[in-house]
Amino acid sequence: MKGVLLSGGTGSRLRPITHTGPKQLVPVANKPVLEYAIEDFKEAGITEIGIILGHKGRDEIQELLGDGSEYGVEITYIIQGNPLGLAHAAGCARDFVGDDDFVMYLGDNILKSGITDLVESFEAGNYGAGIALQEVENPQAFGIADVDDAGNVTELIEKPDEPPTNLALIGMYVFSPAVFDAIDDLEPSWRGELEITDAIQSLLDTGHEIDSHVVEGWWKDTGKPEDILEANRLVLEDRALETQGTVEPNATVEGRVELDETSTIKDGAVVRGPVSIAEDTVIESGSYVGPYTSIGPNSTLEGVHVENSVIIGDSAITTSGKIVDSLLGRGTNIGSADSLLPEGRRLVVGENSQLKL
Ligand code: G1P
Repeated sequence: MKGVLLSGGTGSRLRPITHTGPKQLVPVANKPVLEYAIEDFKEAGITEIGIILGHKGRDEIQELLGDGSEYGVEITYIIQGNPLGLAHAAGCARDFVGDDDFVMYLGDNILKSGITDLVESFEAGNYGAGIALQEVENPQAFGIADVDDAGNVTELIEKPDEPPTNLALIGMYVFSPAVFDAIDDLEPSWRGELEITDAIQSLLDTGHEIDSHVVEGWWKDTGKPEDILEANRLVLEDRALETQGTVEPNATVEGRVELDETSTIKDGAVVRGPVSIAEDTVIESGSYVGPYTSIGPNSTLEGVHVENSVIIGDSAITTSGKIVDSLLGRGTNIGSADSLLPEGRRLVVGENSQLKL
């Protein structure tokens, strides 16, 4: 069994964060989303991984993951080029996959329980594909599966107007190499993409059985800023968080706080977990870091209250205000305008930024 990790796409819904890098490298609890997928592969015993790269972030992804040896896996990079859909991306892995079965994993998805059960369930039968499903509240936004009373998959539809069920195809699939012939015969969908959902329907139409597996525990497609915040909450809730850095005697630390050994929570600061603070970061006196916050490396917080937020890193936040439910890109500086005239907020804001003042 091999792994194919899709890391293309434009990340348009995550702008401006994705103006400077691929969406798959946005950190959740101080770890790039893509690394969670690599860990899931490894846990399922899959160590030969092909990473499909689009135009965006090719170099950054290769720089981060290298040949995979740091993660205990072997990575092959495959260039997709133009993003013509998930099925097109999968098709690019044909030579890499050869005659093996493979797990295809959408690199911007993250899930609690890993892919081991999905793989084992597929391997226990003779299937053309295995799909991971989860109930969603907005089935029109996903690929949807219809399943009969005996649990057999009977139909798959991409973003249906009238969904027969609310069982969404989540971003992990297992395929036999038969899927490549199905991909060859696909026509672009209404959104101009070769849909992987249509390829699975075609497998069904040509007599292959499809294994379905309802995934327990949370799953998140991290396509939008609010999804990153939610994934951050879910991971911080689950992960063991260790305080290794310096907590000065008159600092207050409550709950579970991950503090890198190079970072400091100073006297007079309050940090209430779950929180993750990466390397070379200082939380100065008068700052409050509230639950479900991740603060990236090389950052300083002074006098600010932050809660339920992701600060990606290289930032100085030195205002006395409150920052909640926020995603701040790398190198963001927020200071105070209190003593400046004329009174008012002073903004240098990139394209596609969103501010609620
Ligand atoms: C894609 C798939 C869809 C699937 C979803 C999971 O949707 O086309 O079938 O349910 O990923 O995240 P997209 O993110 O391209 O809208």
